[in-house]
Amino acid sequence: MSTQTRTAPVSINTLSATKRRREKFAALTAYDALFAEIISTAGVDVLLVGDSLGMVLQGQDSTLPVTLDDVIYHMQCVRTGNRGSLIMADLPFMTYASSSQSLESAAALMRAGAHMVKLEGGAWLAESTRLLSERGIPVCAHMGLTPQSINRLGGYRVQGRNPEQANEIIEEATILEDAGASVLLLECVPVSLAKAITERLDIPVIGIGAGPHTDGQIMVMHDMLGLTPPSIRVPKFVKNFLPESKSGIRGAFEAYATAVKEGTFPAPEHCFT
Ligand code: KIV
Repeated sequence: MSTQTRTAPVSINTLSATKRRREKFAALTAYDALFAEIISTAGVDVLLVGDSLGMVLQGQDSTLPVTLDDVIYHMQCVRTGNRGSLIMADLPFMTYASSSQSLESAAALMRAGAHMVKLEGGAWLAESTRLLSERGIPVCAHMGLTPQSINRLGGYRVQGRNPEQANEIIEEATILEDAGASVLLLECVPVSLAKAITERLDIPVIGIGAGPHTDGQIMVMHDMLGLTPPSIRVPKFVKNFLPESKSGIRGAFEAYATAVKEGTFPAPEHCFT
């Protein structure tokens, strides 16, 4: 497959229109200029400068040690390489503990080139979400498994498996949409819960380990190249696209984007029921 060209940069409107057409979009993490350029010219619509950089680049055992300056540095690299994808940046652990802190931290990421910021949590983020979006900063709310809360969750586990937990996630996702969130990211939740939320919300929903019904899919780029750090168990929702590529790493990114858009990824073996 040849390199993809875009007629216009991807914006939040592009993602919303994709949802309305009932089509899918693809997202991947990126942390440097070279990969940002390859990924954004391979048909991937959204680049996430994720705090997963703590694990895949820094060798940490969680995302908690990642600082705002770390994300700003990688954000600036990704901005240089990007060729029209929408860039989302993570607010790291404890950089949005209050709404005023979230505004200051998000502004720094936007100045570094982010088009949207991502915050992990539920209804407690409603005030920050409203403040940021009213000040012109699009927000992606990250719910389900939220790795920054790993010590409270007690492990990397599927969330929303029982009806009470599922209803709570649905309710809190609605609160964040009402507060002005532009996108919701759902991590490690059962297929049926992700489907219900995607159908209920007007905003685009991106999934990772959330089944095939979300509007978009995201993966950590190292995972989809078979480069999960050896100390980490490869999650069930990961697929290595490198073996099926006829053109190396670029071909793997293109295969991923195509599989997401054609609805062949994630397959049942990547999902939680
Ligand atoms: O930091 C990250 O890479 C993420 C993805 C797992 C969605 O938040």
